[in-house]
Amino acid sequence: MLQAVARVHGGLLRFGIGVSVRRSSSGTHQRGVLSNKVAVVTGSTYGIGFAIARRLAQDGAHVVISSRKQQNVDQAVATLREEGLSVMGTVCHVGKAEDRTKLVNTTLENYGGVDFLVCNAAVNPPVGSTIGASDQVWNKILEVNVKSPALLLGLLLPHMEKRGGGSVVLVSSIAAYSPLVELGAYNVSKTALLGLTKALAVELTLRDIRVNCIAPGVIKTEFSKILHTNETFWTQFKNKHQLKRIGQPEDCAGIVSFLCSPDASYITGENILVAGFSPRL
Ligand SMILES: NC(=O)c1ccc[n+]([C@@H]2O[C@H](COP(=O)([O-])OP(=O)(O)OC[C@H]3O[C@@H](n4cnc5c(N)ncnc54)[C@H](OP(=O)(O)O)[C@@H]3O)[C@@H](O)[C@H]2O)c1
Repeated sequence: MLQAVARVHGGLLRFGIGVSVRRSSSGTHQRGVLSNKVAVVTGSTYGIGFAIARRLAQDGAHVVISSRKQQNVDQAVATLREEGLSVMGTVCHVGKAEDRTKLVNTTLENYGGVDFLVCNAAVNPPVGSTIGASDQVWNKILEVNVKSPALLLGLLLPHMEKRGGGSVVLVSSIAAYSPLVELGAYNVSKTALLGLTKALAVELTLRDIRVNCIAPGVIKTEFSKILHTNETFWTQFKNKHQLKRIGQPEDCAGIVSFLCSPDASYITGENILVAGFSPRL
């Protein structure tokens, strides 16, 4: 019976029926497939990042929540603690070196190590053409969306290795495969993340760090409002791809938990579409 429950990959815990088994100074320990692992999730105070953070915590991990605004961090941490989950939070604008260092230090001080990194934060793309993007816009998009995951991982890597390895999940987009003209240079940054996934996976295999990537489709969040509230865009997109519905942030969460779990121990360098369809062959 217990084995059957375990096989559902934390299915019960997903619905908040987490089982507190013991308390320690670092918080509530929960049974689950990620039990007592430590996860850092960037851009995790609302939207897709929040759903991922919640799911990792429901599956047993201690999760470090972060984003640019203290008030959002406080609210997300309070919400998840009310659900009995083991989380703490700190401000981290991923484009700022001092914030990245603070995120790492806070994680180590509170949980003593780290096992998983989920790089979810991305800059909101200005509406406009790729060719029309200014030098400043290009720099911001590349700094936040592409460089920051590699720089943050560089800081966390020695600590993951000390724990015998780890798992990294980057958050790309369907726009990496099928650029949306509305999103300009952002499309390019998300394609770059597919390359970053491959490069890091090859580089880190022998250090027992797996690196994978999810590519969400149109998911109902603040970020994608410009797309899903545009009736013409959404109707055409939906009909073209035979979609029954828009994606929800929770649709992106279970796959990240799986990629962090031992069930995915032979999977690295992979990009997985979470889009209701896939434009890949
Ligand atoms: N929604 C979609 O349809 C969709 C589709 C494909 C891919 N994606 C990707 O999914 C990821 C999350 O998107 P989302 O739709 O969930 O966005 P969202 O609802 O706007 O949430 C963004 C989260 O990131 C934080 N954030 C924003 N800029 C940040 C920065 N520079 N540093 C750290 N945190 C930052 C925000 O909090 P603060 O405001 O407090 O910083 C918030 O917690 C992004 O990588 C996006 O490219 C989204």
